[in-house]
Amino acid sequence: MSDIEHKKKIIIANWKMNPSSADEAVTLFELEKEAAKEHPSVTTIICPPVVYLSALNANDASVALGAQNLFWEKDGAYTGEISGTMLRGLGVEYVIVGHSERRAHLKETDEMIGKKISAALASNIVPIFCVGETLEEKNSGDKFNVLERQMRGGLEGISHFSSGTIIVAYEPRWAIGTGVPETPEQTVEVIQFLKKIVSEYSEFHFSFVYGGSLDEINAELFLREKDVEGALVGGASLDKDRFSSVLKVASDI
Ligand code: PGA
Repeated sequence: MSDIEHKKKIIIANWKMNPSSADEAVTLFELEKEAAKEHPSVTTIICPPVVYLSALNANDASVALGAQNLFWEKDGAYTGEISGTMLRGLGVEYVIVGHSERRAHLKETDEMIGKKISAALASNIVPIFCVGETLEEKNSGDKFNVLERQMRGGLEGISHFSSGTIIVAYEPRWAIGTGVPETPEQTVEVIQFLKKIVSEYSEFHFSFVYGGSLDEINAELFLREKDVEGALVGGASLDKDRFSSVLKVASDI
């Protein structure tokens, strides 16, 4: 059984393109690591910008290191890209793939995301696979079709692996960074829908987390739902006190 199968909840900090110096990153990391030590039943994963990874010390296993992206090839002429092998060499155990900010700004497609998920698995890194609809897609009644398309595209290549672990993060695009989260009820409905899709891949272990304006105030509403196995936290993960409070909620559930 892998670590995340027996721990209570998974809390992932997505620092995005913050903070702006290595010193600040080390300070924030050390504070969040201390907070994580107080809640050992929670799987705490911190995803800083890749340039800070080598400065961060995750050796005591109270937190795990995650990256925010990877490229699908192992090496070669791919200017600016970073492979799973390189990340693994820096102690990275998890990687965010298909975040909606990359889908929107970098035009990442389901096919590219599928290749990245396979590359992560090939490097023995657990993908944190993000799916989520836009507000337009939600309002037009297309939400479940969009989510199914994203899921199937992302999981396209995993049948080449005999086993593995994947964290699926349901992150409605309109809820990210807006202060307006999805409701826990709708989130559970989506997760139950996504679970049906992944039941075809019985050799894999899937965990499902929610992301999108989750913070220390609303965390409990989501995390008390059995189907919501954790959270992907953006804004609130940049403040040590707010992030500690989310960890405490997760630990107390
Ligand atoms: P947010 O970001 O918590 O700031 O909404 C979540 C995410 O993008 O992972």
